[in-house]
Amino acid sequence: MGFSTDAIHAGQAPDPQTGAVVLPLVQSTTFAQEAPGQPKKYEYGRTGNPTREALEANIAALEQGRYGFAFASGMAATAAVCHLLRPGDHVIATANLYGGTYRYFEQVMRQFGLSFSYADTSNLEAIEDQLRPSTRMLFVETPTNPLLILSDIRALAGFCRENGLLLVVDNTFLSPYFQRPLTLGADIVIHSSTKYIGGHSDIIGGLVVVREAMLAEQLAFYQNAAGAVPSPYDCWLTLRSVKTLALRMRQHDANARTIATFLHGHPAVRKVYYPGLKNHPQYRLARRQQKDPAGRPGFGGMISLELENEEKARLFLSRLRIFTLAESLGAVESLVCHPATMTHASIPPAEREKIGLSDSLVRLSIGIEDVEDLLEDLRQALDGL
Ligand SMILES: Cc1ncc(COP(=O)(O)O)c(C=O)c1O
Repeated sequence: MGFSTDAIHAGQAPDPQTGAVVLPLVQSTTFAQEAPGQPKKYEYGRTGNPTREALEANIAALEQGRYGFAFASGMAATAAVCHLLRPGDHVIATANLYGGTYRYFEQVMRQFGLSFSYADTSNLEAIEDQLRPSTRMLFVETPTNPLLILSDIRALAGFCRENGLLLVVDNTFLSPYFQRPLTLGADIVIHSSTKYIGGHSDIIGGLVVVREAMLAEQLAFYQNAAGAVPSPYDCWLTLRSVKTLALRMRQHDANARTIATFLHGHPAVRKVYYPGLKNHPQYRLARRQQKDPAGRPGFGGMISLELENEEKARLFLSRLRIFTLAESLGAVESLVCHPATMTHASIPPAEREKIGLSDSLVRLSIGIEDVEDLLEDLRQALDGL
């Protein structure tokens, strides 16, 4: 099936009892059993729920995996994946990670005997330098948040196979519409479905997809045992969002291309980070790796820009009218944020400096409004800076 057909139908056949075309929302926390210890299919809502199961089947189809798991947030999804590890295990992660993931690794998982190293995962040699006998996992964000650095998933998958590592890819920034890491050799895909998959700034959620039955078994066990599951209503709402994912992603991408070109030519902007610009150092990799289901390159809706200094960055933020100053990304409305004091504030300043995340950096999440209005908003906020 094509991507949009799967997005609309996978996991959601019409209800056999009523014929309802829209998947019923099953809120029930428990399910009647035919005899003691003999449930029909479901027993208890934390362990399994038909609405959640539909979302899990749906995301598995879109990522071309076999098993999907839904969680209460993107961080809960990351936590589930970390629980595949054991004390003493070592993880190599992308240096420029989402701040909350870094905080979880450093302030939570370290206490349980795991260790983490950070590397520029766009460079295989930098990863090799961090490899230890205890390394079990390579955890990659591509493109990264907020500097939009890409890692070559296919090359990393080869490296992980040779060295017996699990390759985990956080695919939040592109959604399966523009990137399907399992098809490039990754073992595990993570999403903060709060972002493009949810797409309307009204659901916090996380998803994990795998192909291997062994990994699926462990994740299913953990999902039930730890219990960070989403509500059936959030699953239902997420399924509704996914039906328009393809349309939304196409518009995010089209708007972002136009805006990145405009920003690139503006004298107040020192640097633009967008993989769809020809001067992005990984433009060729972006074209090869980030593709819509028909094979056309796609770059997504995230752009970061460097202004002259922090004062100008703050002035720019205060002048914007359509772009809302807020954390998060990937929704229909355009958002703007100042990573150093917002999304990435949990990364110590020295670490931020090391990865090139400056105080004058601004991140834009380009929505699907009329692009002329977004351009005009940016123009009036930048002019005279
Ligand atoms: C790339 C990335 N991964 C994971 C997360 C965490 O997701 P959540 O906020 O849904 O817990 C975020 C949140 O901003 C993110 O940007």
